[in-house]
Amino acid sequence: MKKLIAPSVLSADFTILGEEIRAIKNAGGDWIHVDIMDGHYVPNLTLGLPIVEALSRTDTPPLDIHLQIEKPEEFSEKFIAAGGDSVLGITVQYETTRLLLNAVSRIKAKGVAAGVAICPMTPLSALEEIMDYVDMVLVMTVEPGFPGQKFIPSMTDKVKRLREIIDGREHKPLIQVDGGIKLDNIKLIADAGADVIVSGSGIFGSSDYAATIGEMRGLIGEG
Ligand code: DX5
Ligand code: ZN
Repeated sequence: MKKLIAPSVLSADFTILGEEIRAIKNAGGDWIHVDIMDGHYVPNLTLGLPIVEALSRTDTPPLDIHLQIEKPEEFSEKFIAAGGDSVLGITVQYETTRLLLNAVSRIKAKGVAAGVAICPMTPLSALEEIMDYVDMVLVMTVEPGFPGQKFIPSMTDKVKRLREIIDGREHKPLIQVDGGIKLDNIKLIADAGADVIVSGSGIFGSSDYAATIGEMRGLIGEG
């Protein structure tokens, strides 16, 4: 499958959100990654329902919503309602719920793709039971909470091991990676087996989004 690039809107300039989204679309961004944080699960508050609703009224690439909140099973439907047809998928953090299958099932019941994310120090074995029920697994390559953090090097091997596990299974969810990915390490993580690569500050921090995304595509063999 073609590898995808998902710019993380958390690093966009919110005073010109519509323009930022248009620029990313024109630059060839495949998805828009949307980081929802609640100040409880992670020590940061970011975006909520009104921003997702506003994004849905822009000419946006599909929205890939990453919930870093407690009790995601109680909020996923609200985000799907706010984003409407723009919502491609919702990913919940494994660590935030004791009702993981419930959380995933409620997302799928709305006809939206479901993903499950694991923190850097959560072992791959945590995914074993849920893997057949999700469309995507997200390997966090930094601790969730903030953009602009440094990629944790041992996550490359974790992605390689996950690639092998998924290749040996019948149902093959996409592998997404998120955190600290930029021009200097995107090839490494793509070669390890990632299908969908999130980049926030690596793209929005650059002066020419099209040039950066184009260069990224070249590096991951999709140029
Ligand atoms: C971290 C978020 C990431 C972050 C990525 O909790 O899930 O999506 O915004 O930003 P960069 O690419 O700057 O690390
Ligand atoms: Zn994210």
